[in-house]
Order: sequence, then structure tokens, then C-alpha cells
Amino acid sequence: MLRFIAVLLLFVLAQPDASAQTIQSPNKVLTLTFALTRDGTPTYRLWRGDKVVIALSKMGLTLKDQPSLTEGFRFAGGEQIKRDERWEPVWGERSLIRNAHTELRIRLEQPEQKGRMMHIVFRLFDDGLGFRYEFPEQDNLRYFTVSDERTEFKLTGDHKAWWIPGDFDTNEYSYSESKLSEVNAEIGKNVREIYSKSVLGPNFVQTPLMMKSAEGLYINVFEAALVNYPAMAVEIDKASFTLRSVLAPDAVGNKAYMQTPCRTPWRTIIVSDKATEILASNIILNLNEPSVIEGASAWLKPMKYVGIWWEMHVGTATWNYADVNNVRLGETDWSSLKPNRKHGATTARTRTYIDFAAKHGFDGVLVEGWNVGWEDWFGNWKEEVFDFVTPYPDFNVVELQEYAADKGVKLIMHHETSASVTNYERRLDTAFQFMKQYGYDAVKTGYVGRIIPRGEQHDGQWMVNHYIRVLEKAARYRIMVNSHESVRPTGLHRTYPNWIAAEAARGNEFNAWSIGNPPAHETILPFTRLMGGPMDYTPGIFQIKMNAYDPKKKEQVHTTLAKQLALYVTMYSPLQMAADLPENYEKHFDAFQFIKDVAVDWEEKKVIEAEPGDYVTIARKAKGKDAWFIGAITDENPHRASVPLNFLDASKKYVATIYGDAKDAHWEMNPMAYTVAPWVVTSATILDLALAPGGGAAVHIRPATERELFMYGKY
Ligand code: NOJ
Ligand code: CA
Repeated sequence: MLRFIAVLLLFVLAQPDASAQTIQSPNKVLTLTFALTRDGTPTYRLWRGDKVVIALSKMGLTLKDQPSLTEGFRFAGGEQIKRDERWEPVWGERSLIRNAHTELRIRLEQPEQKGRMMHIVFRLFDDGLGFRYEFPEQDNLRYFTVSDERTEFKLTGDHKAWWIPGDFDTNEYSYSESKLSEVNAEIGKNVREIYSKSVLGPNFVQTPLMMKSAEGLYINVFEAALVNYPAMAVEIDKASFTLRSVLAPDAVGNKAYMQTPCRTPWRTIIVSDKATEILASNIILNLNEPSVIEGASAWLKPMKYVGIWWEMHVGTATWNYADVNNVRLGETDWSSLKPNRKHGATTARTRTYIDFAAKHGFDGVLVEGWNVGWEDWFGNWKEEVFDFVTPYPDFNVVELQEYAADKGVKLIMHHETSASVTNYERRLDTAFQFMKQYGYDAVKTGYVGRIIPRGEQHDGQWMVNHYIRVLEKAARYRIMVNSHESVRPTGLHRTYPNWIAAEAARGNEFNAWSIGNPPAHETILPFTRLMGGPMDYTPGIFQIKMNAYDPKKKEQVHTTLAKQLALYVTMYSPLQMAADLPENYEKHFDAFQFIKDVAVDWEEKKVIEAEPGDYVTIARKAKGKDAWFIGAITDENPHRASVPLNFLDASKKYVATIYGDAKDAHWEMNPMAYTVAPWVVTSATILDLALAPGGGAAVHIRPATERELFMYGKY
């Protein structure tokens, strides 16, 4: 500590001007300093205790056709504010969230540019930092085009990193684990199973970037509140271990079009010496604005769903109705085409799913491939591909709506845009009106392919604004949105709680038709993609090997059956799918019970243990209920998870139903071997869960009845 104070003092004394500012986080564990260099370049540093997290790093932006906002600044003042507030999300991982931070607003002016102004706002939390650039309304800076953002994150060494290639069109890569100096993102170019990809180069990686220093610091670099700006990837300077911000360009190479007053998203650095604290952090949500949707809690409901979906991914059914490849909206008469007899979204099959959902207490049934256009939807960069309102001849919207309503189930709409976003925007009102007319209140959107307007990318400013336009319009119709292939979430579900989930990462579907997701995948996602918000990962696959559908198939989900259950807890989402076919659940109703019971809205979250790439164990308390759910998962190695139940009410006895890997379970050799056993437990119990290679365990805990105390053994 003394050494730290001495270093800090030296640093402060060495400052050439009055610009040097220092703040500390509420519990003083983090320290941030801001200073201008001699040439007026803004810089910052971040410490945790006496350890440097971010060494002297530059900040600023370059502009098109205007002098840059990177140097020549004069310090015009700085204000500090301390905040300690609590707020309640409409839905979430916790019912109450604390937002405690120290804010520092730095006001800068460029004397040689007629006093152009830029503010940098820092918010320092106990578990990390957020900062953003703000541009007040001013005569000498009204409209500007960002050609680059020059934010640096200078690390202190060759940290270990969990990364996917930098790419502004997709996040659907598998993670690699390597030192920063060993990152080779070019490997992304060989990934055949991703159709529209644009790998940025060997040293570019996606955010959130999760790292671990040799000293054992866990560091996560990301962004929050991505609005009216492109998404940020980072370039690794391997000589100096510096990350530099890289923004998604538009068709003519510009990054963002701005008009003052305006601001950028927050750049975030979450840091702790415990991996569990990274997963427990609320920084991303806290940096987002409160909900703009009035009365949202009345119509927004977390939910579980099933759907006509996995059968298309395993290949036993198709999205398209006919096997032709030249259809045109407004011209083709689908009822005159020869049906291929494999079409999944039929009225009869949908009824089966509605029955299954009603019988087992699911709220929704997703039906993909219900609307015309799937014959040539993929790979043609075609603009008028779907109209979102015309069902195939074998899908009866009216009849199914009545049937679903009768059974108390909601059909979930599917809008695959095929990345033809101009077409989607033109048809959006009609599509949402159609949904309301027929009783749909949730939509899964999709953006597979190359974007139209041509030249735009999934992560550019125009698309970022598109996703928000859809959310805003959907909110007016009281519609919930689950977006696939959209930009990665940055906590905006706080502001738009009708954004109930997104994919924006490599989901379970890759296991159906590609080399799939290695067993470590789901131990990394919470530290990366899930930092920004819930993911529609679509867990719950019980028929793990795809040769059950076709003996020639070699694909499999890289999991044990018990791990599929655990994912409902480790992979947070208010929207969870039971993704497998009803036929496969019928063979394992004892295990299926966990999916039926598991909650989707939570009061409390306890991260018991975690190590990126190795294991994750999380316990969650269901909102408004005396029920806890635990999920523990491991990578390809076996793992023992020790879970003290000290969060339970000490005055009560509970039943813990443990869904675990059987002794000989193994993700490859014996994936479907599981056990289900109820035990009597108390707050003094410590569960010892033995996870198989690629395995997991799921636990449901609820108060015991008198009878159960006699029936079940003490753990
Ligand atoms: C990709 C989505 O991730 C998947 O869930 C969907 O079935 C297909 N696109 C078709 O829209
Ligand atoms: Ca996808």
C-alpha cells in the first residue's frame, strides 16, 4: 500500500499541468487517473490496489475532413460526483441492482480549433470502469463524421485471452484460448460453417474480450449502451500489449455520423482478482439508461418455449415448402407448387407442439418456416425475399391461433430477414399489425447473410440503429423481440426490456450441423457474450448424437445430458427454449422435469465458482419463490463442484433434486447417462457434484413437505 501511495504521489507530482485528476471507487479498491500529455492528448490509467490494470493509455477520435479530437486539448475543468442508488429491472438476474460509483467529468477544449469542446466521463465502480466521450452542442462542432476512434487499453503484459476473430458480420465463432501475443484471428477465414463472415485480420478480436494476467487479475474489455454508433472490436498491438479500438465501417469507410449534442457508447473494463466477480458484475447494466418503455412490466413476461426448429437443423424437416429455387413474392403461387413433403411448419405438426407445450406448462411455441420465401432465402443477396405475412398453403394461421388460445399457449412469430433489412423495414408495420391481429406477442428475428443496404455490416452504425428502431416499434405494438445474428448486446435490455434475448454468438444449433461447440464453449460464453445480456442459446438437447436421425451423421452436441439441464441456470436468459423434439423428451421425462420446473426470472444470483474455459457453477433464487436452482458445468475435463447451501433459510428443510452425470458418463463415449435423485438438505449442507468430462449437474431446491422428510434420505 505504501509503495502504491508513493508511486501515485510521484505520478501526480510529475504532472506537467493541472489536468491530472484522480478518483477512487466507492470501496477504494480501484483508482483511476486522468491526465493530458504535453501535447494535450487525453490519457488515463487504472489501478486495482497497487496493481496496474491499464497503463498510460491514450484517448480520442479522428474525424473526416476536420481536425482530429486526439490532441491539442486544454483542461477546462473536472467535476466529481458520487452516486449510490438501487433500481429494479423489469426482469433479470436480480430483483434489485445497486449502482454505486464515482463519476469524473473532464471538460476539454482545443484552443487552436476555436475552442472545440469534448468531455470525457468516467464512472469508477468497485469492479470496473466505464468511460465515454461526450460532445456538447457548440458552434464549432455541429456535424462530424468519425473516421476512427483512438481509444487504447494498454495492458501490463502478455495476458491469457479467450477470443474470437474480429468480424463486423458475425459472432458465431468458437473461442480460442491463447496469450495475446499468440492470437491469430486469421483462423477465422477457415471456418466453413459461417456463411457471411469478414475476418478483419490476424490481430483483431471481438469484444467482450476476457483476459487473465499472470498475477491472476481477470480483465474484461467491452462496451455498454451501444446506440447510434458502430460496435467496437479491438486490434492487439503485440509489441506493447495494447488494445486499440476498431469500429465497424459503413459502405464508404466512415464509422459514425454525429450531430452535437451527442456521445459515444461506454468503453468498459471490468476487473477483479476473482473470476466469480466478473460474472457477478452489474456494470454493463448500470451504464445503460433506465427503461423507456412505459408500463412494460404489465406485458413483458419471461418465458419458456418449444418450437418447430431443431428438426430443420438436424435435417429431418425443411423451412421451405417446395424444392424449387426461383420464387418471387407477389408472383409465385405457392399452392400450385409441388410440396416437398418435408416441410416442418405444418398445421398438424404445430398442433402437436401446442399440445406438448400445454401439457408441460410451456408458454410459447416458435414456428419457423411458416411463411413463403424460404425456397431461395439463403445466399442470393436478394432483396424481396420475405413478406412476413403470407403463410405457406399447409400452415393455417387462423386455425392455429384459435387452437393455441384454447390451450393457453402463445405462438411465437419468426421473422427471418435474410439480412435484407431494407425489405424488413418497409414491411415492419404490416408485419407487426399481422402479429397483433393473430395474437402473437413475441418475435424471433434473424439476420442471416450479407446486409442490404449493400455495403453495410451487421455491426455498423446503420444496423445498430436498425435493431433499436425494431425494438422501439415493437414496443409500440407491445411485442417482445429475440434477435438472432444481431450485434452483440451491450446492456440495452435495461432501456428496452422488450429485447428479451439475442443470439449474437455461436448457439447450440452449430452442434447439429457442424464441428460444433467444444465442451469448453459454454464455460466461456458467460465471460464474453453474456456480459452484454441474455442469450437465446437453445439448450435442452437430449438426443445428443445426430446419427439417431441418419446413421451417416457424425455430428453431436459436445455435452452430457445433465449438462444440457445445467445450461438453463449457467446461461442466463428470460427466454429459454426446450430445443429438442417432443419425441426425444418423451423418452426422458424424469430429466425433462428440470426444464419444466426451472425458473426464468430471478431474485438473486450467486456465482459459486468459475474459471473461463474450465467450469462455471451458479445458484439462482426464483423471483418471488422459495426455490433455488443450481447449474454446474465443466469443459472436457471432469470436475467436482462443491456447493455450500448456506444461502438457504436456516430454519427450514428442503428437498434438493439432483440431476447429475452417471458415474460412467462422458460427452463423447456415453453422453446420455444421467441420474436423478431427491435428497433432504439444509443450509448446512455442502453439495458435492461430480461432473463427467463435458458434463454438468442441475439442482432444483424447494421446501420439503412432511412426507418427503420421511421418504428421502439426508444428503
Ligand atoms: C439462424 C438462427 O440462429 C436459427 O435459429 C434459425 O433457425 C435460422 N437462422 C433460420 O432463420
Ligand atoms: Ca445463428
